[in-house]
Amino acid sequence: MKKLLFGIALLIPALLGAWEKEVLISTPNTSLLLSAPQGEELKFVYYGDKIDEAQVSQIYDAGLAINKAAYPVFGTESVYEPALIVQHADGNMTLDMQVTGVERENTDQYELVKVMMQDKVYPFGVDVYYKAFKNSDVIETWTQITNNEKKPVKLQKFASAYMPVRQGDVWISHLHGAWANESKLEVEPLKRGMKVLKNKDGVRNAHTDHAEVMISLDGVPSEENGRVIGAALCWSGNYDLTFDTDDTNFHGFFAGINPDASQYSLAPGEVFVTPELALTYSDQGVGGASRNFHKWARNGKVYNGTKQRDILLNSWEGVYFDIDEPRMDQMIKDIASLGGELFVMDDGWFGGKYQRLTDNSSLGDWVVDEKKLPNGIDTLVAMARNSGIKFGIWIEPEMTNSVSELYEKHPDWIVCHPKRTARPGRGGTQLVLDLSNPEVQEFIYNIVDDLMTNYPEIAYIKWDANMSIGDYGSSYLKGDKQSHLYIDYHRAFRKIMERIRAKYPDVVIQACASGGGRANYGLLPYFEEFWVSDNTEALQRIYMQWGVSYFFPSVAMASHVGSSPNHQTGRVMPLKFRFDVAMTGRLGIEMQPKNMTEQEVEFSKKAVETYKSIRPVVQQGDLYRLISPYDNKSVASLMYVTPEKERAVFFAYKTYHSYAQVLPRFKMNGLDASKNYRITELNQDADALSGLDGKIISGAVLMNEGIELPLKNEYASHVLELNEVN
Ligand code: DGJ
Repeated sequence: MKKLLFGIALLIPALLGAWEKEVLISTPNTSLLLSAPQGEELKFVYYGDKIDEAQVSQIYDAGLAINKAAYPVFGTESVYEPALIVQHADGNMTLDMQVTGVERENTDQYELVKVMMQDKVYPFGVDVYYKAFKNSDVIETWTQITNNEKKPVKLQKFASAYMPVRQGDVWISHLHGAWANESKLEVEPLKRGMKVLKNKDGVRNAHTDHAEVMISLDGVPSEENGRVIGAALCWSGNYDLTFDTDDTNFHGFFAGINPDASQYSLAPGEVFVTPELALTYSDQGVGGASRNFHKWARNGKVYNGTKQRDILLNSWEGVYFDIDEPRMDQMIKDIASLGGELFVMDDGWFGGKYQRLTDNSSLGDWVVDEKKLPNGIDTLVAMARNSGIKFGIWIEPEMTNSVSELYEKHPDWIVCHPKRTARPGRGGTQLVLDLSNPEVQEFIYNIVDDLMTNYPEIAYIKWDANMSIGDYGSSYLKGDKQSHLYIDYHRAFRKIMERIRAKYPDVVIQACASGGGRANYGLLPYFEEFWVSDNTEALQRIYMQWGVSYFFPSVAMASHVGSSPNHQTGRVMPLKFRFDVAMTGRLGIEMQPKNMTEQEVEFSKKAVETYKSIRPVVQQGDLYRLISPYDNKSVASLMYVTPEKERAVFFAYKTYHSYAQVLPRFKMNGLDASKNYRITELNQDADALSGLDGKIISGAVLMNEGIELPLKNEYASHVLELNEVN
């Protein structure tokens, strides 16, 4: 009876069209408060530590209510930066939105709050969504824009979300890089004025800036202290994250699809859904915000985020394009004997009329090169099976070369305006396929479908993308829709991935884009992992992996042991250091194993076995960053701890070596102060031991006082496993 009454109580306000004016949206530890009075503007009131209904009034009493438009539109308060600018068919540039309803939907996983708004004059609607997760402190927000007018409306700017950030000692941490040097951490004060992080690549969006940012509200970012808001735009295409300070106490933060050259015409009845902006809040510094993102990612935002990842050998740096059956056979056997679980055949295996001998031909001709592989892929798959491992393959489905059968047949399938001549990219011949064209979408889907149908045992696909959109334009899109290309490309990409995932839920797919060009939450719902960088050099990887760890979980971070001298930087470094760095992510090997010495083979075998035992902690544990390589203390250190805090793995690296150095102590974190832990040194180098192997030390000592590590030599490193002692 009680249940029934409760149900009725909930129903009645909905029927009458009434709702609570204060809309409180909460995760386990955070709350976002809106004010949504019927017939008025939707207001953003508060985002921070969790409050309950009874505390809502305290936010107002304490003067904390921000009360700024939650989704500002152009045309009314035009002096302020808007999230949405449209032009109605009659030429009117203005919007005046009023709240018309609030709906809540509850599931085991999340609460979805929808605030509906309608223009006061035009039949034009904007619904703002907030999806508050129940098992992580993340709220995703986005909008749904509906044109119910009789003629098309032009969307000129259409951010996913806006958030006011109070001025003060605010700092931002974000990632910037370049090919082979991606995801470098940038930390800077948020000054008054405008700060823009944006991308215009068209295809990949994480080589230079990233679509994620941490906003530290209490001064210089601290790893474990202070209030931090994290934001990650879940869109694989061009994006725009802008901070714009207005003449109030606030910086405005806008995040969404980059509207540059992307005016979107919305037909009558058409709905435009903006990508999600994932927001998190933590009062435990950037470390807390990172852990929030990681948890949310593992629990759904990364495809199969809780599934254990295999240890693999990728053929690229071992043989590059020189693929043939004997080499593949040798590599398969070698990785199997090292204890690996998967072999991935990279670029160079395909091509009919044109052989793929280097990067200047054949993309699009996804047939086996019978000269290189006379017995086909079946034989390779069988070789892997016989060696007790899985088989994976490289493709670059969104691309072609002017030297290819595909291009000869469909020259109009490429991105480029028909009145222009495309300037090719990689290899002097590479071109981007026009994904806005449904025939191209079908072609791309079929690449995967054919591979998986012909070779159902393929367990892993490396999906590469090595070109940007340079010559903008489409032969498919009508004249007035040319400006849809950047957006339609990525909508199509999502559609293709959804089809692939519906039919092939189990194949592991890596997002690679000339290295780290696709570390982004727009793609990760379809991909298990991303390739961090084409730079496999362990020292540089420490910096890059540190950067990606701000937003992405280790389970999605493909991290391989490269050769020495390294192919990108030429640096010579010990195998132990290379393993110790790669073992903080999804471990792989990216070299020719047959070139290893006997000693190296022995070391690698043990390291692979060790990784298997710590894999659950590394891939699913909570990350604590201890000493940043960016702090120039000559060392870097981090650790992973299980949620139960009974097991942890600690990593320390020497990043700069000189004589008579004074190194910092290593204070651990995330442990239980009251527990005792037995320390086991992993990947031991008999000449450079930590001296901690077998010691039992309390969490309190490890966290409050720390440990001393010798780290005497250049590229010295230590990996310590901690197990609770009862
Ligand atoms: C770029 C990728 O990042 C590399 O790992 C490799 O797959 C090459 N493409 C192959 O062409």
